[in-house]
Amino acid sequence: MSNPDVADAEEASASSKEELIRGLNEDLSREYKAIIQYVVFSSTLKGAEYGDIADQLKLHASEELAHALEVARQIDYLGGDPTVTVKDAEYSQDSKKMLEIDLKQEQETIRNYRARIRQAERSGEYALSEALRDIIVQEQDHEIDLKDALGLR
Ligand SMILES: [Fe+2]
Ligand SMILES: [Fe+2]
Repeated sequence: MSNPDVADAEEASASSKEELIRGLNEDLSREYKAIIQYVVFSSTLKGAEYGDIADQLKLHASEELAHALEVARQIDYLGGDPTVTVKDAEYSQDSKKMLEIDLKQEQETIRNYRARIRQAERSGEYALSEALRDIIVQEQDHEIDLKDALGLR
């Protein structure tokens, strides 16, 4: 006879793992979206006042790709399937608007990774929470770059 307490605990841990995989796939779709936006924005950004930020956006694009690769690896490690779904990318012809769109996106990304770190820790996935902490440090740098470019700091 199986012990119902153990069975309950196993079921709870399986469902928390599934929830974690679902959340990480949301993060992965968000990273795909960020890659697309930074590739396009960095090559179309116009205006002398935005000279430096175009180069920074190119760097953001390659860092978002590294995040996507890491998140996909973590999903696979947890036994999930990395998503092929991309969240709809946003675009504006207006440079300032473009930067504001990116800033809003970075802030949403940071909020989600914070939640994911707590979720990973509740599930006892400490290596994952460490990996997400490394990613969030770079997202915070992206947020700062965008705030600087927009004169918000
Ligand atoms: Fe990212
Ligand atoms: Fe970012």
